[in-house]
Formats: sequence, C-alpha cells, structure tokens
Amino acid sequence: MIKSLRGMNDILHEDYERYTYFIKTASKVASHYGFHFIETPLLEETALFKRSVGESSDIVGKEMYQFEDKGGNDVCLRPEGTAGVVRAFIQKKLDRAGGVHRFFYHGAMFRYERPQKGRLRQFHQFGVESFGEANVYEDANMIMMVSDILKELGIGYRLLINSLGCKECMPPYRDNLVKFIESVEDEICEDCKRRKNTNPIRVLDCKNEKCQELYTNAPKLINSLCESCATDFEKLKNILDKNDVAYEVDTNLVRGLDYYSKTAFEFVSDNIGSQSAIAGGGRYDRLVEFLDGKATPAVGFAMGIERLMELIEMPQTSREGYYIGAMDEEALELVMSLVHKKRQSAKVTTEYRARNLKAHLKNADKANAKYCCIIGSNEMENGTIWVKNLEEKTEETIKQELF
Ligand code: HAM
Repeated sequence: MIKSLRGMNDILHEDYERYTYFIKTASKVASHYGFHFIETPLLEETALFKRSVGESSDIVGKEMYQFEDKGGNDVCLRPEGTAGVVRAFIQKKLDRAGGVHRFFYHGAMFRYERPQKGRLRQFHQFGVESFGEANVYEDANMIMMVSDILKELGIGYRLLINSLGCKECMPPYRDNLVKFIESVEDEICEDCKRRKNTNPIRVLDCKNEKCQELYTNAPKLINSLCESCATDFEKLKNILDKNDVAYEVDTNLVRGLDYYSKTAFEFVSDNIGSQSAIAGGGRYDRLVEFLDGKATPAVGFAMGIERLMELIEMPQTSREGYYIGAMDEEALELVMSLVHKKRQSAKVTTEYRARNLKAHLKNADKANAKYCCIIGSNEMENGTIWVKNLEEKTEETIKQELF
C-alpha cells in the first residue's frame, strides 16, 4: 500500500472543518486590519530563500526541499511565505509605487525537519506582510491582530517580545557577543561554534542546556539598543499595555530566520507539547533592499495552522438543510428531482435506495439536516411530502409543488 510521505498529512472531515473555520476567522480579522489576499507559487528559485531566510539558518542549511527542475533550474518548495511575498512585491514594482501595501496569505510550506507532534514536513501557515510603514504602531498592530485571531478562536497564549536592533546598534553588539562567545568557546556545542561565524546572535536561542547556562552572562542586546530602537521598543510595550495584550520580554528571542531587525515576537501555547510556537514574526526593514528592491520598511507574522487546529474551540453547529428519502422504489425518481430542485437554494442529502422511516430519520440525523422529508406510496398518490423539523420535533405534510 502506498502511504503519504513522513510528516505530510491529509486534512479531511472534522480537521477540514477546523482548517476552514480557522482560515475564515483569520482572513476576516486580517481584512478588518486592511490586508488583502495574495497567492504566490509554492515553487521558487532556491536563491530567493538563500538570500532572505539566510544561509546560516537551519531552514536553508538543512531543511529545504531543493531540486533541479527539467530545465536545469535550481528550485525549492517554499519553506515559508515571506520571501515569496517580498519577491512579488518587488516584481510588481510596488516598492517604486510608494504608500503602504498590506497582504495576507495561507497555504502549504515545506521543511525537511524531523517529524514529531506539531512538527510536520508539509504544514500550513496563515501569514501577513505589511510594506512601507516604518512606524512601530504597525508592529503593534501585527501583534494585536494575532491576539485578536487567537481570542476569537478561544485560544490562550503567552506572548514573547524582543528587539533585535537595527543596522546602527546590531553590529557593535554582535562584535561584543562574539568576544563573549570566544571567552567560552571551549565549552559550547558544535552548532554554536558554527553559529559564531555565520550568525552569532542565533547562539542565544540554542536548545543545549549547557550553552544556555553559559549564555546567562552574555551581553544583552536590549541593553545596547540605539536611542531610536530603544524608544520604539518602549512605545511598543506601552501600546500593548494600553490594549491589554500581556507580554514577556525575552532577551533570548532571536527567531530562526535571518531577515529580522527591531521588533521580534513569538506566541506560544503551553497546551500542545514541546513544539509550542503557534505564531511568530517581526520587522524586516532591510529585506526588500536585499532582494534588489527599493529600500522599504516591512513587518509581518505567520501562524502555524496545524498547531492551532489542536487548540481551536469550534462553535456549536446548528442543523442545516434537508434530507430527502423514498420509502418505495417507485418514489426514487421523484425524490431525485426534488433533491435537485431543492439544491438550487439549500444543502440537501439523500439516499439512492428505498428505506423505511426509521433508517431515513437516522440518516437525516447523521447528516445534521434540519428537515427530514419522506415520500412513500401515500405521498406519491396524494402529491405530497412528509416533512419533520428535527430541531423543533414538529411534523407536517405539504404539497410537493409548494416544497
Ligand atoms: P516561523 O517562526 O518559521 O516564521 O514559522 C511561523 C509558524 O509556523 C511557527 O510559529 C509554527 O507555528 C509554524 N511552523 C513552523 N515550522 C513548522 C513545522 N515544521 N510544522 C508545523 N508548524 C510549523 C516564518 O515562517 C516567518 N515567515 C514569519 C514571518 C512573516 N515573519 C515576518 N513575516
């Protein structure tokens, strides 16, 4: 038997209901915030991710579904959504158009990770990207948007925030950090030794306990921010306070992608096990320029839909539509016609065989129909249809032409 690949799931039945309920809710909130839908390809040039997510990241270093296509192009299934949206933004010359451009998207992402609960190789994200707004109010809006989506879905969370500084304050901090790492280099893990040369701040979120212990004495970027970054970070905290969005400042939050500067944030849940990040994002003011566009400030986030599906409180669904069944073989054709007519305006389920009343009522209940409608020999003779309202438990017989 051929099975799906490891870490790649089918989404059906109840899961699909959850999936679409999430997309509907998140899309509604995003449109309230002034965002518009964008769809970008699943396959892009590998260079796009190398230059944006960064060669030093685990995503690009170890996890890409990368191959040569039949035309000899080096391509890659997208491991995340931001790079493709930035590419589209530049390709459509929106960087030259000026103004603010806000997009949301959802769809499959691919990372060749070691699968475990909450960690898939094909997973789905809902994300938003905002271009052209440098004001930290936009960062606050991003965080409040995630918070609104989670609130509407009945999901509790902890919010972690940090500032990663800018091109003024980050380089001197990085030099300081490298000096510190060198002072403990003999004791840190191999990954951190590599990170020291590629992207030193990534050592701060190393999962190795020994490293973490050593880094408690590392210099903190939050204490080295330039005046503008420090003011923005204070403003951000202030807006969140004023809007009752609780947060913790986590000075080790550096995110796994290289493109961030200034605000970085992550939403975590304590109810889904070790893969606890349910959303993450931040500001990436230099990425558009890095991908050959006109320098444009930008900020965004993405939410992991599979992780959220475990946490969503689904609303009670009420009965909907009709079930129409025949009790005699002779009534089947008439039932088919009535089903077809009714489907022009409502959801209708049916059964292609004649059954007794009890079986039909059971089918109607299973289909969560509001009305169970039956045609037997009596109804055939009288040109009527028997209708039971399964919600109110009332029955009536009505003329077929009025049905
Ligand atoms: P990210 O933190 O890599 O950020 O991913 C965002 C979310 O996707 C995570 O918080 C998690 O919920 C989910 N996720 C990531 N990897 C997996 C996986 N293997 N299995 C299941 N869920 C997963 C980004 O992707 C950035 N593009 C976010 C962003 C947008 N930053 C600015 N704009």
